[in-house]
Amino acid sequence: MSHVHHFPTRVTTADGSPQFFYGADYNPEQWPREVWDSDIALMQQAGVNVVSLAIFSWARIQPTNDTWDFEWLDDMMDRLHAGGIRVDLATATASPPPWLTTQHPEILPVTRDGVVLSQGGRQHWRPTSPVFREHALQLVEKIAERYASHPALIAWHVNNELGCHNVYDYSDDAAEAFREWLREKYEDLETLNQAWGTAFWSQQYSDFNQIVPPRVAATENNPTQLLDFNRFSSDALRDYLRDENAVLERISPDIPRTTNFMVMSGTSGMDYATWTSDVDFISNDHYLLPTRDAIEELSFSAARCSSLAKNKPWWLMEHSTSAVNWREINPPKRRGEMARDALTHVAHGADAVCFFQWRASLAGSERFHAAMLPHAGADSRTFRDATALGETLEKLAPVVGSKVLPSQVAVIFDYESWWASSQPFLPSSLVDHHAQALDWYTALLDTGVRVDVVSPDDDLSGYKVVVAPLLHMVPPALASRITTAVEAGAHFVTSFFSGIVDEDAHVIPGGYPGALRDLLGVRVEEFHPLTPQQGVLLEDGGAGTLWFEAVELSEGTETLHNYGSGPTAGMPAVTRATRGQGSAVYVSTHLDREDLAELAGDILRTAGVYVDVEFPSPGWVITTIRRGTDADYIFLIPRDPEGTVEVGQLTGIIHGPAETTIKGTDVIVLRREHTA
Ligand code: GLA
Repeated sequence: MSHVHHFPTRVTTADGSPQFFYGADYNPEQWPREVWDSDIALMQQAGVNVVSLAIFSWARIQPTNDTWDFEWLDDMMDRLHAGGIRVDLATATASPPPWLTTQHPEILPVTRDGVVLSQGGRQHWRPTSPVFREHALQLVEKIAERYASHPALIAWHVNNELGCHNVYDYSDDAAEAFREWLREKYEDLETLNQAWGTAFWSQQYSDFNQIVPPRVAATENNPTQLLDFNRFSSDALRDYLRDENAVLERISPDIPRTTNFMVMSGTSGMDYATWTSDVDFISNDHYLLPTRDAIEELSFSAARCSSLAKNKPWWLMEHSTSAVNWREINPPKRRGEMARDALTHVAHGADAVCFFQWRASLAGSERFHAAMLPHAGADSRTFRDATALGETLEKLAPVVGSKVLPSQVAVIFDYESWWASSQPFLPSSLVDHHAQALDWYTALLDTGVRVDVVSPDDDLSGYKVVVAPLLHMVPPALASRITTAVEAGAHFVTSFFSGIVDEDAHVIPGGYPGALRDLLGVRVEEFHPLTPQQGVLLEDGGAGTLWFEAVELSEGTETLHNYGSGPTAGMPAVTRATRGQGSAVYVSTHLDREDLAELAGDILRTAGVYVDVEFPSPGWVITTIRRGTDADYIFLIPRDPEGTVEVGQLTGIIHGPAETTIKGTDVIVLRREHTA
């Protein structure tokens, strides 16, 4: 039902050249009207040309079941239009008002242990509730009818961060919808019983109605039930998205639709790879982590968005100008980090840079969250920096519409493997698919190359190196696609606990790593997970943590590194099998950061992958390339915000200091004309 790639109408300058979208969530319902006019004037001053409006406005728009108040929103839409500011208009369904939850408490979500979540926060609705749907879709209809042809409207913002707080609901509505989903998937109980392995612990079902969501049980739940519940919960939210889409498509087919994804560390509930055809353009929310690999995690997320967007432009719908309010300790960003973060998303294909939020709230749970306009007002570092960023984006307008140039190296990131390897009752609760993927991404960046982040279903054939860290679930079709890519010349790398289970989370017998055993030319009988205090050494001085294994080699498989300590001392730790034109490398422990980077470098050299931009310390910056019609735009993003980076004499600088050594938050953009 979605258009192929229906991007919001571009904002252009007087000469018709397209601009970046620049703006924020705007919540004028929190402010008296006197503030609105000064808001618009300050937005213009900061270069804001778009706002996301009405995200949490349900109670204001529909104060009671049968009253509607659009007067304020009409006024706001008109003022924004008059001020030259476009609107990404929300369907306002994210937070149901108290009158609705009071009349219909049956829309409230229920936790695993049976607690009904109260109103008083936000997103307190069951994705599968027919009563919620009826009310929410009525609201969508009213808003769509009223604003479909408003001149300020450029995009529909469906709900907001679907699943941020309510992805897992264990209510009776969810139980019924789960059973329906299972009926459709398995058709009959025999197939379900087989897939769920219900011969174990006397879990055999004799009627679909006996099935419930994986609620708190006497001990851990059935693993395939857990996995199917992950899949169902992601699908349930997507079905809800489809229902809002259907209303918008009927009333306002010409306006592109999006819903803001949360591709970031710690959010695992929604398998966005299965949502991409339900939005007209990809948009994402990202908040910088307060960790050592913060910029790498940001870059990983943005690279992931770029591949979800099929290398077409996408929107950064939210990030923060400075501190957030929802961690234990919430320090502000360093000077320069606001622009660095924004430009890192741009480097990976974002054509919109938006923040949560425009004006910092004085009341409510997010009153200590940074905004473009802080509590201090316009006379503030944050507002000046936000204004400067607006100017930077104006200067970088030639980059708009250019496409991220795919890399020769891909890291596979897979929600199904993440879910399946994060369950209870596994060999170790310390291994994490996302963390492993990020560590490999970081190690590859250390070598200075550009790296894509792809889904297992993406086309792997264009890559010289494919790295699949902790790819726990490998169904036969994926195993054969990987094998085909290797035989055609790809160099494949995977690590411990990969290839272990099929799509039902059943172990593939015959020795680990199951589905990848033949390709890798190795066989493992037992896992040796390690405690945080333990480690293992390699013969050549390297070290590993988390895990090790006794790896048996098939004929022809070579050893790249041996273990140097523990029960497997002298046995292979890292191996390589040559297959067709390519090779398959197996890494049976979690190598320390430097060792991982060294191994990544060796593999890239074998595959003939080199850095795109030669300068003194390629691994100290993240490099991306956006290809335009006449030129390439090369982004260089320093990785250590507190250090400096020697970049030498660069030519074609269109943004950033023209110095041989730059600060850790300076981003440089180079323009390289295409040569005929
Ligand atoms: C999310 C939400 C916003 C706001 C921010 C705060 O991204 O979409 O409404 O709560 O978090 O960081």
